Parts: sequence; structure tokens; C-alpha cells
Amino acid sequence: MNLTDTRAARASCGNLRAQDTGAFVELNGWVNRRRDHGGLIFLDIRDRDGLTQIVFDPSHPSFAQAERLRHEDVIRVRGRVRRRPAGTENPKLATGEIEVGIEALEVLNRSEVPPFPVNTQDDVEESLRLQYRYLDLRRPRLQRNLALRHRIVKSMRDFFDRRGFLEIETPMLIKSTPEGARDYLVPSRLHPGTFYALPQSPQLLKQILMISGFGRYMQIARCMRDEDLRADRQTEFTQVDVEMSFCSQEDVMEVMESCMRDVWKRALDRELPIVPRLTYAEALARYGSDKPDLRFGLELADVSALFMNTEFVVFASALTAGGAVLALRYPGGASLSRRDFDALTELAKMHGAKGMVWAALGSDGTKSSATKFLSEEVVAGLRSACGAQVGDAILLFADERASVFPVAGKMRLEVGQRCGLRSGDDAFCWVTDFPYLELDEESGRPVPAHHPFSAPHESDWELVESDPLSMKAQHYDLVLNGFELGSGSIRIHQAERQRKIFAMLGMSDEQVEARFGFFVRALEYGAPPHGGMALGIDRIVMLACGEENIREVIAFPKNQVGRDLMMDAPTAVPERLLADLFLRSTAPITEE
Ligand code: AMO
Repeated sequence: MNLTDTRAARASCGNLRAQDTGAFVELNGWVNRRRDHGGLIFLDIRDRDGLTQIVFDPSHPSFAQAERLRHEDVIRVRGRVRRRPAGTENPKLATGEIEVGIEALEVLNRSEVPPFPVNTQDDVEESLRLQYRYLDLRRPRLQRNLALRHRIVKSMRDFFDRRGFLEIETPMLIKSTPEGARDYLVPSRLHPGTFYALPQSPQLLKQILMISGFGRYMQIARCMRDEDLRADRQTEFTQVDVEMSFCSQEDVMEVMESCMRDVWKRALDRELPIVPRLTYAEALARYGSDKPDLRFGLELADVSALFMNTEFVVFASALTAGGAVLALRYPGGASLSRRDFDALTELAKMHGAKGMVWAALGSDGTKSSATKFLSEEVVAGLRSACGAQVGDAILLFADERASVFPVAGKMRLEVGQRCGLRSGDDAFCWVTDFPYLELDEESGRPVPAHHPFSAPHESDWELVESDPLSMKAQHYDLVLNGFELGSGSIRIHQAERQRKIFAMLGMSDEQVEARFGFFVRALEYGAPPHGGMALGIDRIVMLACGEENIREVIAFPKNQVGRDLMMDAPTAVPERLLADLFLRSTAPITEE
């Protein structure tokens, strides 16, 4: 049946209401569900906006056609909007007060039987969802998440536009700029044996835009990093990337915080509470993490002083080696069994602890895995240090300072999770005053904790040669509920200072010239003081949607091992294509 010549109003499947009763409408969409009931066929047609019920009377010529419709067939219907009979309204559906009496049906395309139900929220194995991502994307969860993603990104663009930032695109084929991960390389056909790198971020290009006088830049920037994937990490991801000239750290933080406040209001209709600030040292001491989850308290207590003269060898040796003993309150933990504590100890070991001592503060006295060493006085001291009461437990960790704080921090998250404290409000915070350098785990060499373009604190320049590991960076991170949303810094804008940092990192003049010559030269031509920040959009959307995995807010993500299961990428390519690029693969052939 050809429907194109009638004069029906095109409607969406989510928008018709009681006041549209009597309207003659056309709806296009997918068969969400068909029910044959009391001689009638009730069919839910679905599009991005929702569902509308279509009713087929057996006397209608399209009834037989409707009987053959299957889930996910693509149809166009025309009909008259009418109120549902009293008592059959569906309050759960926005269009639940009305239905459309069929006047014409056109089947635009048929669908194979989907490999999983599209019209339910049932859990489906993720690899199947990713393989048939086009069907997965039809389901309400991803439709809702991607719509929210759109609104968040739009609010960001609008915010920066109002604040006078220009969106400027930077290239995808660039020279390698380090952000701590491996580069994806792209071989050049025109210049045999050479490679472009895909940007890990537009870091140097945005700094160069400041040198070029643009003053306020932003970009919704795609970044590519060849690194191991986690629930909050993809090889390809998107940043809102920002850079400003003639600014202080305060200026950048103000702009970024205002952006988040605006996005939260406009896209989520939520008020952002005051964003507290912590220094890196404070965050580590109180929460054992540089991205603390501030939805709950349970601060770590350094109880080293209580164990100064202990005979407990484990604690004593940690303390004599300059380490610390940390205590963590476990609310209600006194009711845990020995077995529960053993399991917790195993978990702490998995997080890198040497061991764990527990003390359960029962109403009939304290039980502990190290009773002998916990005098009444020490127990009283522990209780007051971490605010524990009868009914709680106290967990103790001892080790070198560099490892005991992160371990206790991870256990704090675990306890928070078990006690149901990791839900609820949006707990943002700023973390500032990061160390400039950290020791690379593999080589043991100092490497920039973030990137080598951040400026140290002005007063720390004198430490570059004498005590570089004590230098702090003019670097700041924005954290939400224990996730790093973004990071930024005030940059080095003088060429000789940038060279000094490269030299401190052990780079020779030749290496600097080969890798960063273009950039250091640019700094020599009147680079203004500047700074900026990048926020990870995928992570922001993930948290805004209440999702626990970044893949739920990306239309076409890679799986945990970096594969696109829908397209089946990466794949081998014909020898001929490699030859064009002067490449030959030496990879062993693997059967998957
Ligand atoms: P950084 O490397 O900290 O800084 O990245 C900024 C933010 O980008 C997000 N992000 C990621 N999201 C998903 N998957 C990943 N693999 C991934 N890696 C990073 C995070 C992170 O906080 N050029 C600097 C910024 C600057 O100094 O202006 C940079 O890229 O949310």
C-alpha cells in the first residue's frame, strides 16, 4: 500500500497525548511488540522517542498483514488518534492514554529474529551486545545514555561559547606527543618508513594555539591511547579540551568548575554542591587516594604513634623503616566472622598489603587477630583515632608509606561499598599540588607524574637540579565519586625552562630537538603564560548516567581487549596493502 499521497501529520512514537485525539497521523518505526487479544491485534510501534499502541480490527484490510509482523520489522502506519477505553490506559507509558486505530500499514523492511530481545532490559552477554551493537543501541538504556551524552556535550559547547572560547579542530595525524601511554602509529605511504602518531591528546597543539594568540580554545577532541583497558578507560575516548592564555590556576579551575555546574544544571537538572579542595598530600593521607571518593567519610587514621614501642614485629619493622600504621573504621564490622576477616585480609593482600590486623569491638569485649599486641590502652587510642564505636571493627595496615596509603585507600572503598555508602550525591572535589615527578615502576627513573609541559610551583624551580623529586606541579585534577574526571596545569611558557625540564628528565639536546624541537622553537617566539585542562567526556557521561562502565555511554566501543566485535577490528590486511606502505608483518599467526 502506498501511503505517500495522504495528508497525515508525521508524529513521533513518543509524543501523542490525549489532546491529540481525533488527529490523523503517520508513524514510522519498529515493531516493538505484538499482542493478539480478544480478536484484535495490539502492536507497539517504537522509535527514538518512545512507543505508541496501534490497534488493528479484524475487519481492516491490513489485519492479515499485521498478523505476519515480527519483532523489529520496520513499518509505517497511518491512523486516527483515539483515547484508550477507560481502564485500559497505561500510566507507565507517556503515550499510555491514547492509541491509534489503523487505517493503513506499510511494511518497509523485514527483520531477522534478533539474537536477543530488543524490547526488554534483560541482561544480555556483553559480547553479543557488542557484536550486534545496532540492535543493542535500539534498546532504551543506550538510547537514553546517548541522548544524555548529546545534551552534556551541547551544554559544554554552549558554555564555552558564552565564555568566549573558540572551538578549533586539531589534526588526527600528528607527531607523537607523550601523555604516558603508547601511541597508535599510522605508516606514511608518501614518506616510506615514517609514521604519524594519532593524538593521545591535543596537548602541544593547544599550547601552540595560545602562542598563536587565540587566547581561549576548546575542542571536543578525540584522543587515542594504546593502553590496557579498564571499566573507565577506552583506547579511543573524547575530551573537552581547554586552554587559556594569561591565566592563573584559579582562573582555569573557575572556568572548569563553572562548566560542570552549568552542565549539571542544564543537562541533568541537578545543583552542584560546593566543590571542596584537597592537596595531593591531604587526599593521600585522609583517603589513601589522589582521586578520593567523598560520598562518605571513613577517613584513614595514622596511628603509628600508638605502636612506637610495640613488640608486634610486623608493625615495629614497618615503623623502624620509616613506614606507617594506618587504621580504618569498618562500621558495624564487629558482627563479621573470622572467616569474613580472613577474606578481607586476602583482599587487602591482593591490593598489595603485606597483611591486615583486625579488631572487632563487640559488646562483650574486643576480639582481634593480634589480641596480644592490642592492650586496652591501644584499643582506646585506636577507637578515638578513627571514631569507632562498639559494634564497629577496626582494620590496621602497616608498610612503607608509599604503599600503605594506597592499600588502605582501596580497603576504604571496599568497606564503603560493603556498607552501602558509595551511592547518592555527586561528590566532586579538586585535588591540587601534585608531585611533579614520580618513579617509573619499570625503570625506577623519575618521569613526569602527568606531562613534561606542566610548570612546577614557581618556588620549586630551584629544586630542578638539587631535589627534583620534591618539586610540586601547578597541576589540578577534578574528581567525582572516586573517578578522575579531568586534569590540567599551568604550563611552562619559556623555552629555556622547558629545556631545563627535558634535561632533568634525562633527555639529550638531540633527543629534545628530534621529538620536541618544533614546540620549543614555538615557545621562543613570544609564548604567553598559559594553562588549561581536559575533562574526559565518557567518564562524565558514565557517572551522570549512573553507569559503571564507560562502554555503556559510547555508541561503538571496543571490548576489554580492544576489539570492535561488530566490525571485527583490528584485522590482518592483504600483503599488497602492507607492501604499499613498505611494511611486512613479523607477527606470529594466531588462531582465535
Ligand atoms: P589526562 O591524560 O589526565 O590529561 O586526560 C584528561 C582526562 O581524559 C580522560 N581520559 C580517559 N578517558 C577514557 N579513556 C581513557 N583511556 C582516558 N585517558 C584519559 C580522563 C582524564 O582525566 N593533555 C592533558 C590535559 C591537560 O593537561 O590539559 C591530558 O590529556 O577523564
